[in-house]
Amino acid sequence: MSNTYPRPGKWKRILGVLVVLVALGGGLVWWTLFREPPQQLADDSMEEYFKYGSIGTEQQDGIPYWIWLVLPKMFPEYLPGPGGLASLGFGWEQGRELPVGFSKKVIGFERVGVNCAVCHSATLRETPDAAPVIYLGGPGNRVDILGYQRFLFRSAADPRFDASNILMEIGQVYRLSWMDRMLYRFLLIPATRKALLAQAEQFAWTDSRPDWGRGRIDPFNPVKVRALGVDPGETTGNSDMQSIWNLAPRVANGMALHWDGLNTDLTEVVLSSAIGDGTLPKALPVKKLTALEKWLMALPAPKFTERFPVDSALAAAGEPLFQDQCARCHAMTGERTGQVMTMDDPDWQVPGADAGGRPAHTDAHRAEMWTPESAAAYNDYAAGYDWDFDYFRSTGGYVNVPLDGLWLRAPYLHNGSVPYLTDLLEPPAQRTQVFYRGLDVYDPERVGFIAEGPDAERRGSRYDTSVIGNSNQGHLWGTNLGAEQKRALVEYLKTL
Ligand code: HEC
Ligand code: HEC
Repeated sequence: MSNTYPRPGKWKRILGVLVVLVALGGGLVWWTLFREPPQQLADDSMEEYFKYGSIGTEQQDGIPYWIWLVLPKMFPEYLPGPGGLASLGFGWEQGRELPVGFSKKVIGFERVGVNCAVCHSATLRETPDAAPVIYLGGPGNRVDILGYQRFLFRSAADPRFDASNILMEIGQVYRLSWMDRMLYRFLLIPATRKALLAQAEQFAWTDSRPDWGRGRIDPFNPVKVRALGVDPGETTGNSDMQSIWNLAPRVANGMALHWDGLNTDLTEVVLSSAIGDGTLPKALPVKKLTALEKWLMALPAPKFTERFPVDSALAAAGEPLFQDQCARCHAMTGERTGQVMTMDDPDWQVPGADAGGRPAHTDAHRAEMWTPESAAAYNDYAAGYDWDFDYFRSTGGYVNVPLDGLWLRAPYLHNGSVPYLTDLLEPPAQRTQVFYRGLDVYDPERVGFIAEGPDAERRGSRYDTSVIGNSNQGHLWGTNLGAEQKRALVEYLKTL
């Protein structure tokens, strides 16, 4: 049988060539945008991973490296002061490319994201001229996370955020290949701008609420908006960074986690922390985070005595006061430690202590922010994955937190409203009403970071305790002790 159409073999060849071309193109697109080689870190230690490793945030929120690098030079007016990102409290270790808490990962191209250490590493200086000492697992006392986000959003909204300007700026520090220039010009710069502007919309609710300021974030309203589809309503959840060292005894004693005890399962808290920072469920590095969880469980709380002297006779005099007045809620094995105290718990009332006409419990905003609706939505969130959330709940109270490494956890209480430990033992009306957070120069006498004076004002965020969510009321334990007893108790608390 004969026909006048091209032979089937010829069609097959044309089709074959087309398939190869499409595959090559597809391969190139995959290579340029999606290929995901393992992250290269300086070494394989967990410490290195904690400081610079990826927790998965680069996929959704990662900023192309070269854009990230030049933005502070292009838009210094959107930063709180000179010095680039350091002015937001991010700190570089000697010779490192990124600040502690930032990760660089290739997903097609190099992207910069954040990790746990951005909020969970503290710094301390003994004098204003000293170099900061970094304490991994400590509360991120200097960082202004909302300030960083607003810096990115404002830069993206600026008309100078365009391909020519950004490529010119990059050209000052690095010679991109022709391919990369094309990639940045036609894809990455416009896409980054669009993504940041869309993210700015997702954070628009922060404009109608008090600023987080340094060392604080609203930890869960962003999760409601970005992951759970829950309306934040009028809630304000501004909350002090927590320490995450020494987690093993918390787990062993079944303690509730987070300031309000909204979850009792550490694995869920670790995974949801990465999600809260912008990791998409499909990008969650579960194995890595499980290893990190183990490492954090055993990470020791740092000792005051490694840096400053303690009057041991005075501390010994303070110990029985602690045992008598504080231990049941705060000792690692106290009968109420790790449990939640709701606002109506009669235990907030301390006989003989003066609340100055205000409630004896602490500011309720953070507890009220995490609603039953939010908890239910988070428990449904992981459906379809091989990890799950089951233990989210709304408690309406605060956890009786263990006090390990307390000396480095200033400012105190869940909203960071009390700058010094000595202040917390004064009745609320006599506690500091306005101060500045974010200076890391330490005061071993009052136990906390210096929160007043020109340096603190220049480098810190103003904290006014009359602002919504910032109240320093409540927690009256110890306020009715005599001056000598307070001195002894504080000396003992330094040793925890
Ligand atoms: C953007 C800042 C930020 C990042 C990033 C962050 N956290 Fe947190 N974390 C917080 C704050 C703030 C709290 C306290 C929040 C609250 O309950 O109000 C907290 C609480 C916790 C707690 C509870 C501690 C306790 O004693 O109850 C754990 C555990 C924790 N984080 C682990 C992690 C891990 C692991 C990561 C990385 C995967 C991470 N966090 C990333 C800010 C952060
Ligand atoms: C009946 C329980 C209870 C007793 C007793 C108690 N506290 Fe507390 N304490 C709490 C709760 C609840 C919180 C968390 C409140 C918050 O953050 O708003 C807290 C928080 C603290 C904090 C802040 C921790 C941080 O990381 O910021 C310190 C410090 C503290 N207590 C010291 C003491 C001392 C000292 C005593 C004894 C004089 C004492 N507490 C007695 C329940 C108690």
